Amino acid sequence: MNTPAQGPSATASTALITGATAGLGAEFARQLAEQGHNVVLVARDEARLRASAADLENRYGVRAEVLRADLADDGGVAAVVERLSDPARPVEILVNNAGMGLLRSFADNDIAEEKRHLRLHVQTAMELTHAALQGMLQRRSGRVINVASVAAFLPRETYSAAKAWLLSFSRWANLAYAGRGVKVTAVCPGFTHTEFHDRMGMDKTVAPRWMWLQADQVVREGLADNEKGKAVSIPSKRYKILTAATRVLPARLVAGPPRRAK
Ligand SMILES: NC(=O)c1ccc[n+]([C@@H]2O[C@H](COP(=O)([O-])OP(=O)(O)OC[C@H]3O[C@@H](n4cnc5c(N)ncnc54)[C@H](OP(=O)(O)O)[C@@H]3O)[C@@H](O)[C@H]2O)c1
Repeated sequence: MNTPAQGPSATASTALITGATAGLGAEFARQLAEQGHNVVLVARDEARLRASAADLENRYGVRAEVLRADLADDGGVAAVVERLSDPARPVEILVNNAGMGLLRSFADNDIAEEKRHLRLHVQTAMELTHAALQGMLQRRSGRVINVASVAAFLPRETYSAAKAWLLSFSRWANLAYAGRGVKVTAVCPGFTHTEFHDRMGMDKTVAPRWMWLQADQVVREGLADNEKGKAVSIPSKRYKILTAATRVLPARLVAGPPRRAK
């Protein structure tokens, strides 16, 4: 359901953030609102989206729309494509952030689950970027942030494969469209404290404490790198070093800690 925009910031630019109810998406919405952008919050939990929208409007004086959509579903994606394609309400910043993890290994998963996972991370991000780019290229201005992962550099299940697609897509799109005013960045966080691992039922102690990042740092660095026009953002020095090491070390060594149920 779409709430008509209203409020004090009729002239500010608008950012649409997917997966805005929790974790990195909620933090992207907060920091973008703090910077003065109006926001369109997209996810499945409408009550949570409404509470976040009210909070952002009160705290930062921006307009916050709510768009409830399941982004692993054709109908949900179509609703967001429609919003992104409305020339009367241009979206200047798109953050493709909604995501999920799968605890079990590929061959043990139900194929329907794997298809939803691939749809959400890859096809949805591709379709939403395509829709957003039409207006951005016409206006010769826009920003797209694709939340990938350091997993994009590692051999870790179909999650890595999906995030590697986002990374490769962002690298190419940034090259292709920078000259036409559109900056595209893959933000590649390492382990970050959000709801992600609890939702997938993963025991968070498999990764040592030093490997965990805070969402506000990831988002601050990701937004700054996108503003600078960087195609890839790897938040924190420790993950920049780890990612560089993945280019020279054998796959077996860089696969990272195995997943374990809570
Ligand atoms: N946390 C990490 O360690 C980490 C590391 C690297 C990359 N990432 C990536 O960061 C992104 C955000 O994850 P997070 O860590 O912030 O996880 P999170 O706290 O679990 O938040 C995930 C968000 O995605 C939304 N979402 C999930 N499935 C959806 C669907 N089918 N349709 C619409 N929205 C959906 C959820 O909202 P609803 O449930 O309300 O729909 C929620 O807002 C993901 O792409 C993830 O792969 C996370």
